[in-house]
Amino acid sequence: MGDVKNYIENHREDFDKGILTKENIVKNPFDFFNQWLNDAIEQEVKEPYAFHLATSVDGIPQNRVLYLRGLEEEGYIFYTNYDGNKGNELAKNPNVSMNFFWAELERQVRITGVAQKVDEKISDEYFASRPRKSQLGAWASQQSKELDDYSLLEERLEMFDKKFKENVPRPPHWGGYIVTPKSFEFWQGRPSRLHDRFLYEQNDSEWIIKRLNP
Ligand SMILES: Cc1cc2nc3c(=O)[nH]c(=O)nc-3n(C[C@H](O)[C@H](O)[C@H](O)COP(=O)(O)O)c2cc1C
Repeated sequence: MGDVKNYIENHREDFDKGILTKENIVKNPFDFFNQWLNDAIEQEVKEPYAFHLATSVDGIPQNRVLYLRGLEEEGYIFYTNYDGNKGNELAKNPNVSMNFFWAELERQVRITGVAQKVDEKISDEYFASRPRKSQLGAWASQQSKELDDYSLLEERLEMFDKKFKENVPRPPHWGGYIVTPKSFEFWQGRPSRLHDRFLYEQNDSEWIIKRLNP
């Protein structure tokens, strides 16, 4: 335990993989995000599509890791259970924040935006592309509800496996949300904690870009 405490208190990582300037940033934040996501994929970052999604209800924030599963012109899609905690939270307050951190690239992207359910057809198509076991899992899991024993989940899985002998239909409580961004912040680590940050905020159809202090 002493070693962990010592490591946390004293380990230092310096960042020097890149520089952001007014000249080299991409002016359209969607294109910039795609470029950085592409860099993360090409550099074989593990799970480059994983991000933290923050929700907030009654002043109490919550966040959790999710997978980005759709890149659309209007925004970013993830899939989940509509009846779990985040589903209930989004029904009360659709304002969210997404955070991608690609440690290997020393980059972070923060996005704020508004989440709304995608068309059922989009959820149907994505659900149909999932492996059968994941499809059955979406039926079996009552996401975020208390589970007395893991065996109860396995029993439900078996029950749905028997019920849906061939195709597994999409459960009505499972589907996608699309986040329409209102702002992006691109962060590139620099030596001595003097990082580069560029904030993009939407003003009508224009994106206003500001450099921020680290
Ligand atoms: C790497 C990783 C990827 C995940 N991807 C998803 C996902 O795409 N959808 C999802 O509903 N939960 C995903 N989870 C589980 C969530 O973090 C969370 O536990 C779950 O969605 C319940 O959250 P909630 O109680 O706030 O609704 C993932 C977890 C990890 C660690």
